[in-house]
Amino acid sequence: MAAAAAAAAAPSPAPCFPSTRHTLPGLVSVRVSRRVKVAVAVADPAPAFNSVTAFAPATVANLGPGFDFLGCAVADASLSLGDTVTATLDPSLPPGTVAIASVTSPSRPTLADRLSRDPLRNCAGVAAIAALRALDVKSHAVSIHLTKGLPLGSGLGSSAASAAAAAKAVDALFGSLLHQDDLVLAGLESEKAVSGFHADNIAPAILGGFVLVRSYDPFHLIPLSSPPALRLHFVLVTPDFEAPTSKMRAALPKQVAVHQHVRNSSQAAALVAAVLQGDATLIGSAMSSDGIVEPTRAPLIPGMAAVKAAALEAGALGCTISGAGPTAVAVIDGEEKGEEVGRRMVEAFANAGNLKATATVAQLDRVGARVISTSTLE
Ligand code: HSE
Repeated sequence: MAAAAAAAAAPSPAPCFPSTRHTLPGLVSVRVSRRVKVAVAVADPAPAFNSVTAFAPATVANLGPGFDFLGCAVADASLSLGDTVTATLDPSLPPGTVAIASVTSPSRPTLADRLSRDPLRNCAGVAAIAALRALDVKSHAVSIHLTKGLPLGSGLGSSAASAAAAAKAVDALFGSLLHQDDLVLAGLESEKAVSGFHADNIAPAILGGFVLVRSYDPFHLIPLSSPPALRLHFVLVTPDFEAPTSKMRAALPKQVAVHQHVRNSSQAAALVAAVLQGDATLIGSAMSSDGIVEPTRAPLIPGMAAVKAAALEAGALGCTISGAGPTAVAVIDGEEKGEEVGRRMVEAFANAGNLKATATVAQLDRVGARVISTSTLE
C-alpha cells in the first residue's frame, strides 16, 4: 500500500511565509456586537466530488532579466505541455492524509520510476498535503494519481506543474474554497522542498498568463494581462541534457555590480511594459537582454550561445534560457515562423553542443491550472 502522509505532518511553511489576507477555510466570521466580529471554527469542508482531475501547464520562468520574479504559462493545442493530477477521496487511508497511488509518464516511460511515491518527497504530494491543510480537511483522505507530461530538469517548470495540478485538484475536490494566492502558496511549499524558494514557475502555473512576483512577505503577485491581440508564440527547444535547478542556482554570481543591476532592472521594467502594451518586439528584445544570469548559465549548457544566435538569425524576436535550462526559449509574433526557428535551434544544439534536441511551438496559456474532469459523489 502507498505511504500516506498527514497534512499536519507536512513540512511547515518557510518562516517568511505570509499569512494570507483572506478568510481561512474552516473559519466563519460572526458578528457579536455592532463593532466586533470574531472568527469561529466550523466543521471541515465536505467533499464536492468523489474525484477531480486537474491539468497545469508548463511555465517559462525568468524570461531573461526577470530572474526569480517573472514567468509565464505556455501550452500547445493538445495540452501535452503540462502535468495532470487526479485527486480521489480514499476512505482506506487515515483521515487527513495523502497517498501517491500512481505516477505515470506515457511519453517517457522511465521518468515515472525516478519519482518518489512518498508524498513528502513528491512535488504533487507536498502540494496536495499543503492544500489539504489550507482547507483544514480533517475527516477525509486523498489518493493522488500523477501523469507527467513534462520532462524533469528541463527548465519548463516540471515540478511546479505537478504541484499546481495537485493543489488545484485537491481544492476542487472540496468545492474550490481556496483563493488563488493560497493555491500558489501550497505549490510554493512543494517548490521550496524540491527546487528552491521561488514562485516564478508556480504562480503562472496556477494563474496562467504572465505573472510578476512582487514580494513574499507580504505575499504579492501581480498578474500582467496582455492585450488579446498579442499573438506571441514560444519556440521551446529542449536538448537531451539535464540541468538540475540546484546546480544552475549554485552557479549564480554571489554579487553583482551596480551598473549590472541598473541595466537588468531597466530591461525587466521594459519587459513588464511590453507585456502590458502587447508589444511583441519589445518583449523579445528585453527578454534577450539579461546581463547577469544568462551569461553565467549559458556556458553550462552545451551549444546555448549558438542556439540563441541561430534563433535570432532565423527571425525570432528574442531568445534566452527557459527557467534554469537547458530548454532554450525563443519568442515569435504569430506561429508561422515557429517551425523554421525551431529547426534552426535544434540544428545549432546538434552542431555546437553535440546534443539531440526537440522543438515545440506553444502559445501563451492564459488559463493556468484548470479542472478537466470530475466524478460525482454517489
Ligand atoms: N527562477 C528559477 C531559476 C526558475 O532560474 O533558478 C527555476 O525553474
